[in-house]
Formats: sequence, C-alpha cells, structure tokens
Amino acid sequence: MSLRLGDIAPDFEQDSSAGKIRFHEWLGDSWGVLFSHPADFTPVCTTELGFTAKLKDEFAQRGVKAIALSVDPVDSHHKWIEDINETQNTRVNFPILADADRKVSDLYDLIHPNANDTLTVRSLFVIDPNKKIRLTITYPASTGRNFHEILRVIDSLQLTDNYKVATPANWQDGDEVVIVPSLKDEEEIKRRFPKGYRAVKPYLRLTPQPNR
Ligand code: BEZ
Repeated sequence: MSLRLGDIAPDFEQDSSAGKIRFHEWLGDSWGVLFSHPADFTPVCTTELGFTAKLKDEFAQRGVKAIALSVDPVDSHHKWIEDINETQNTRVNFPILADADRKVSDLYDLIHPNANDTLTVRSLFVIDPNKKIRLTITYPASTGRNFHEILRVIDSLQLTDNYKVATPANWQDGDEVVIVPSLKDEEEIKRRFPKGYRAVKPYLRLTPQPNR
C-alpha cells in the first residue's frame, strides 16, 4: 500500500554513494527530502541532482537533509556523480541510495509497473523530525521537478507547525498568510497576531506572516 501523509517514513538500511545508511539514524533530528529518479546517466535526473546540490545552503538553513535514490548500483552512482559535477558545475553533496535490490523502492512504492516495470518513478517525500511524511509528490519520468517548490512547501510546513496559520495559493515566504478557521476567539487572535488581520470573509482572514 502506498504511503500517506502522516505515516511514519519506513526505516531501512541500504548502501549509498556515501556508504551504508541507516535511514532514521541518518536523519537524526533533521527534516528529510527523499527523492527517487528513474536511472543513472539520464539527462533530466542529471539536472535534478545537480540543482539539488546547488541548493545545499537553502536546505541547511531549513535543517533539511537530502537523499536521492535509484535502482542502480553504487559503482554506477560514483561514475555518474563525476558527470553531474562536471556538467552541472557543482559537487554532489548528499548520498544517492543504491537500491539495486529494490528494498527501499518496495517500502516506498517507487516502482509503478504501469509506467515502467523496472525503473523508479520521480517520487519525493518530505519527512519531518518526528519521521512523519509531510509531503508526497510523483512526477512522470519526462518531467523534472521544481526544487524551489519543494523549498516553498518546507517553508510553509515549518511556519504552519509553529503558528495557527495556513498559506494561501502561490504563497511565498514573507507574503500574507491565513488564520486557521478553527481559531475564533478574538482575544486569542489579538494575542497571536499583534500586527492585526483583515477579514475578507468571516472564514478568510489574512494577517502578515507572524515570524517576520
Ligand atoms: C531522464 O532522467 O532524463 C529520463 C529518464 C527516463 C525517461 C526520460 C527521461
């Protein structure tokens, strides 16, 4: 059965380009982004892994560790990393799981037989420090993911975990946010949102981002 939001991300032990990984232990208290790609030495994946390497500081600022996966073996990963570094003008700075035995692919349902019998799809999981799955996305092999969007979702998750707000369509860090509908008490609203709010409708109340 496929994994759902709020499920605990399955733990595993698997080989990687950075040696053996015990997943939960490797995550520690960090957030995690686990993402699969169809195969080594493929063009879209090369750009995705290169771009993720370039976002190292952005991930670090948010306390996030990235880890990639494909069903290719570790010696293939090492050769491919040389190509990624050369062509994407970066250095791959996160592990790539070598899931040749499909242990992790099976746990995370990463092979979709009606799309392809053997290759992993382009799935991605955001995992919080309690090891809960907070975002799942699956893209087709032909479409590279937008990693700015992943950072935007992580910003939203980290904000809304700490304040009684949600983020509206196309929200970017620093924009107005909405007050959660369950919060009704005016005194509490004033205390939580001292910058005030505007009620477009009783259920649509916008307030400046509280941690700015
Ligand atoms: C790619 O990563 O470039 C790719 C992989 C499988 C099918 C199409 C593109």
